[in-house]
Amino acid sequence: MIQIIQTAHAMNEAVFGWKAENKKIGFVPTMGALHKGHLSLVNVSEKENDITVVSIFVNPTQFNDAADLEKYPRTLQQDIQLLSKCKNLVVFSPTEKEMYPKGATLQHKVELGLLENTMEGKHRPGHFQGVVQVVKRLLEIVPASCLYMGQKDFQQFTIIRHMLSMWNSTTRLVVCPIIREKNGLAMSSRNERLSASARNDAGQLFQTLRWMQENAESMPLADLESKAEHRLHLAGLDPEYLDIVDAASLQPVLQLRESACIVACIAVWVEGVRLIDNIVLSGNLRLT
Ligand code: PAJ
Repeated sequence: MIQIIQTAHAMNEAVFGWKAENKKIGFVPTMGALHKGHLSLVNVSEKENDITVVSIFVNPTQFNDAADLEKYPRTLQQDIQLLSKCKNLVVFSPTEKEMYPKGATLQHKVELGLLENTMEGKHRPGHFQGVVQVVKRLLEIVPASCLYMGQKDFQQFTIIRHMLSMWNSTTRLVVCPIIREKNGLAMSSRNERLSASARNDAGQLFQTLRWMQENAESMPLADLESKAEHRLHLAGLDPEYLDIVDAASLQPVLQLRESACIVACIAVWVEGVRLIDNIVLSGNLRLT
């Protein structure tokens, strides 16, 4: 039986108890509706720590669209079932009141500068303010040695890494690889909303990223972008953005040699569902 903690106070006490016993704590924040992508983060944490805390909390302050928040799947019992085989694991599933005693609103704007003006930030105003707010609160409750996040949400972990250094945090961020379905589509709870044929076609999102990776050396990046965009359209995917950026500043780059690490990031719409994915074109993401 895995332990489930619901209050911030009990969670915090448990963490300090483990720390007093010199236990290494890994933390995997999630919004639930768990799939193999989330589980891969849990598995990495289990290997590297004595105890893993998985939080399950659908954070209202990071949704800029009320309908999206409403539609977000809440499957706590199923999630707990999925985690039940894990060892030394604690689930933290707080209520909104526990997380935000003063109300679930964005109180202080965090200065994220250009990091939040591109890609996801540009298309989902306020989203990263909410993400930073909830991760800060979660880390106050669970001051873990290591925080595990997925490359799937590339801009999210880049911003959190920046914030950890701003906060002089002792928590180390570990970035885990993207887990994919057979056709390459990155695992996401949103995939469930697609028809079988759209889910199949959506594999072209990854195929396009792979194509970009394979051809990045052989043409100017502007051409790579426009050709990739054309491929997405042909596959019935409607791109919202397709950006080639520096992995640390998230600003667009024009030449492969311009930065130590370069990432191609795409968001597409298909059947009213928004999908994101990314791939490293050059350099090593974990060294940025
Ligand atoms: P959520 O979307 O539930 O994702 C939780 C973590 O799982 C994130 O770090 C995300 O990058 C990772 N993840 C999701 N799909 C993945 C995949 N296919 N392969 C590998 N990792 C994957 O991201 C959030 O929740 C929230 O914004 C949160 C950080 C919890 C703050 O509310």
